[in-house]
Amino acid sequence: MYRFEVHQVKKPLEGEVQISGAKNAVLAVMAAALLAEGVSEITNVPHLKDMKTMSDVLRIIGCRISGEAHQLKIDTRGADHLEAPYELVKTMRASFYVLGPLVARFGRCRVSLPGGCAWGPRPVDLHLKGLEALGAKINLTRGYVEATCEGRLPGGTFNFPISSVGATVNVLMAATLAKGTSVLQNAALEPEIDNLVDYLVSMGAKIQGRGTRTLTVQGVESLRPGKGYTIPDRIEAGTYLCGAAITRGCVKVTKIIPEHIASTLDAFREMGCKVDVGNDWAQVDARGMELKPISISTLPFPGFPTDMQAPLMATLVSVPGNSLIQDTVYNDRFKHVAELQRMGANIQVNGNTATIKGGTKLEGTEIMGSDLRATAALVLAALVAEGESTVSRVYHLDRGYEDFENKMAKIGGVVIRHSDDEDDDAF
Ligand code: UD1
Repeated sequence: MYRFEVHQVKKPLEGEVQISGAKNAVLAVMAAALLAEGVSEITNVPHLKDMKTMSDVLRIIGCRISGEAHQLKIDTRGADHLEAPYELVKTMRASFYVLGPLVARFGRCRVSLPGGCAWGPRPVDLHLKGLEALGAKINLTRGYVEATCEGRLPGGTFNFPISSVGATVNVLMAATLAKGTSVLQNAALEPEIDNLVDYLVSMGAKIQGRGTRTLTVQGVESLRPGKGYTIPDRIEAGTYLCGAAITRGCVKVTKIIPEHIASTLDAFREMGCKVDVGNDWAQVDARGMELKPISISTLPFPGFPTDMQAPLMATLVSVPGNSLIQDTVYNDRFKHVAELQRMGANIQVNGNTATIKGGTKLEGTEIMGSDLRATAALVLAALVAEGESTVSRVYHLDRGYEDFENKMAKIGGVVIRHSDDEDDDAF
């Protein structure tokens, strides 16, 4: 187990950070490799704990995984154990992505239900209803989903009642090998879905409607191993830009797709930061500025992402005046609030809305991460809190930020990793 020692910045963060591949995009593509027999390749893969967990899930199924220098090879020729166990699915919900590909290709599988997560219940009912609409038989028994179909899935139409990234991923993957044509209505628009569509098309899948709410998939009998490139991580980019705003510095994130972070950049503009954008970079400059409070709601893409909610909240704590953040995607995603309050932040939560009375002075102390983005938010707050802070449970952060301490160091942030054997996750 590790913890971070985070120093209050002596001067505002300044410099360039190169953004890594998006873990959420890779996780879907890794699962999609199961749709074909042979060796698939994925590039721009970040070195992160979640990639290791998904590799472990695929290994249990019988795949061989190898990789070097941000490339991953997945050999599915040995895939014959059609099961994803609780131990792995509970540590990473995206393990549930193997459900769609396995039932579509092999006609049966058994995958653990993920259960809740740090910010409340996160159902998978839409994954299951969508697969049923394609013709899969779903049986829930002893905490596991057993999915079966006779021969190939027939295919079908499913209208997602709410926008769901994960359910779109699972149902889309399954539809590629169906006998007939499937129509996914109100599919998620997140860039990670487009990235998956590109990969599936490289495998020979027939998909129309990329980038729209309606995906039409003409099923094919078999797919070939694919070659996939991973889009840059829009949330990692947004987090470092928060680092610029909270310290009143200037940070440029490179190797990004600016359209993917448009709503995040709009939030910085509204706060009064100077935002510059190029072909594959964006810069937030808050040097010497008095920033303004804002009101914002999280929404599915292209709206402001729920994954940016915690880092933005930490940032708004530094901005005098009343800011409002409403999370309409995950109503309970406020575990970071209590820790920010312990540092001196004035935040009140009412239902799915947090009111931040910004401008209070933060004090460095011992704080604990509760999930990936909450932990990033605490590190950001610690950068401007008086003195030093200790952030424990940084294994959450390690799930989604590649090379975090070094990237922070490049822009002037002092984040030192310590091993801490006593920091266990027993409660
Ligand atoms: C993905 C991201 C996560 C991000 C989230 C929202 C991955 C691996 N994770 O999670 O980082 O915070 O999108 O952008 O890509 N819902 C249901 N039933 C379902 C599925 C979802 O009711 O079967 C609800 C959820 O509770 C939530 C909303 O739909 O309120 C959106 O969730 P969803 O887009 O599915 O999130 P994930 O795919 O789990």
